Amino acid sequence: MTDETNILAQLEQIQQDALMRLETIQDESDLQAWRTAHLGRSSAIMQVFSGLPEVPKELRPQVGQRANQVKQALETALAERNAVIHQSSLERSLRNERMDVTLPGREPIQGRLHPATQTLRDLYAIFAEMGFQVYRTRDVETDEYNFELLNIPAYHPARDMWDTFYTSTPGVILRTHTSPGQIRVMREYCPDPIRVVLPGMCYRYEQISARSEIQFNQLELMVVGRNITFGDLKGTLNDFARRMFGENARTRLRPSYFPFTEPSAEMDVECFICGGKGCTICKGSGWLEIMGCGMVHPTVLQNGGYDPHEYSGFAAGLGPERIALLRHRIEDIRYFWQNDVRFLEQF
Ligand code: DAH
Repeated sequence: MTDETNILAQLEQIQQDALMRLETIQDESDLQAWRTAHLGRSSAIMQVFSGLPEVPKELRPQVGQRANQVKQALETALAERNAVIHQSSLERSLRNERMDVTLPGREPIQGRLHPATQTLRDLYAIFAEMGFQVYRTRDVETDEYNFELLNIPAYHPARDMWDTFYTSTPGVILRTHTSPGQIRVMREYCPDPIRVVLPGMCYRYEQISARSEIQFNQLELMVVGRNITFGDLKGTLNDFARRMFGENARTRLRPSYFPFTEPSAEMDVECFICGGKGCTICKGSGWLEIMGCGMVHPTVLQNGGYDPHEYSGFAAGLGPERIALLRHRIEDIRYFWQNDVRFLEQF
């Protein structure tokens, strides 16, 4: 065999060999490896190029031309194979990641207002119509505001009514009721007249049961001005009861005792579940207790900066959870803060 036929046959072999291997390649990483092996710097075809100077001069053009053709053939085949692999991997991912747009969607979980918040907002709306502003005060109070300034000195037996959460700072407690807000609002507005509601969470160190929780909301009412009478208290609270429980809601006031009001009373509304006949909710009495109230005690007015000889006022405190409980006939107050969505979803 001459040198010429020998080297041309070798080129033929290089081409066939490379193309054959290319046929079997299925993915991009193998294709990359093929490119290095058959077109890379130390590949057979590149060695032919680098050996060209040793080829006899008269053969060199022919061998060079043929080598170029082989190289080009390999490059073209590579490009084609690349296109095929790319296409099939695209098809595969389209097939695997296909989305069925006709499937019904998943319904998003929507939050809603807590029943206590709903009741509070209803109360704000009613009192707003009656000219009351919302005034917020602090959850962490001092003994002074929570008790002393409300006419409940340390030795007073009425302190037994409020089992208190104390903090590690002496004199600083969690408010046991919203009444300390009375002092704060009076001290801010004095000597102007006041007509506010004071909402907020209250805390008591109590045995948790179906009827009592260690935290609960209260809504305090306070009106201060010249010539505010018990008649104003009764008229305002009656009006509220009708707006809240319906035009025909009947109410009654019973004498009671609170250190910060004199006289003090509790207001009942006729049981709207049995219509006053007596049922388990009203424990057979036909009446539901909805709030404590009274004329602001002169000492308390004075502590707020008002002269009790010139000014008078009334106050009341009601429990929004208790109202929600009655409205929705919930039998256990513990549901309110257990954060069980099965309960919360019902409102
Ligand atoms: N602070 C009282 C309590 O927690 C509720 C209350 C009663 C508030 C009478 C008042 C009121 O403003 O006049 O039991």
